[in-house]
Amino acid sequence: MSIRISPSILAADFSNLQVELSKVENADLLHVDVMDGNYVPNISFGLPVIQAVRRVSSLPLDIHLMILRPDRFLVDFSSLQPEIITVHYEAVTHLQSTLQQIRELGSKAGVSLNPHTPLDGLQYILDDLDLILIMTVNPGFGGQTFIPAMLEKIRDCRRMIGTRSIELQVDGGVSLDNMPSLLAAGATNFVAGSAIFGADDPGQYIEKMRQTQRQG
Ligand code: DX5
Ligand code: ZN
Repeated sequence: MSIRISPSILAADFSNLQVELSKVENADLLHVDVMDGNYVPNISFGLPVIQAVRRVSSLPLDIHLMILRPDRFLVDFSSLQPEIITVHYEAVTHLQSTLQQIRELGSKAGVSLNPHTPLDGLQYILDDLDLILIMTVNPGFGGQTFIPAMLEKIRDCRRMIGTRSIELQVDGGVSLDNMPSLLAAGATNFVAGSAIFGADDPGQYIEKMRQTQRQG
């Protein structure tokens, strides 16, 4: 299975977003972190900023909603025609119905699990999922340190997914340093913010991430 790389624009220079986005054109997706200051202890940006991103980048959008009761905003975010909308397991009451709604609105349905959240709740709704995001830090901020215990969770998740075509995304502290072990554990979709946008040449960094797979 080929991997996908999704730079998180949270780590980009917002005063120069168009230039920043032009540096990561060789990525597969653009990871967009929406934070509400409620579900997570931080506020990032909302629809108007993502609309601006949409105007200057042709990459498919991968929207990560770190907001309470995201079902209230699914119609709004769907208007951007994102490839993926991911909601948090912990922030939704009727997850299966929320996932169905995301698909009905035309996007792929993703669910994200905080580090302490078990995989168990997903086993009966796998058919409603296109992507599982294993958070490898506690959500809310870029630039945090990867939690090594998540490697076992990724392996367990890979086993649970089996032959289904569900992407296994990792997000938080991902870099070239831990990519070999993440790949070996079964991750297929790699979000990286500070590692990519903090690199001297973000495009080249993305290429190196791809090469990791070829070498592995
Ligand atoms: C954290 C966000 C991440 C963040 C990753 O809550 O979901 O997408 O931007 O940033 P890095 O790669 O710097 O850990
Ligand atoms: Zn994210």
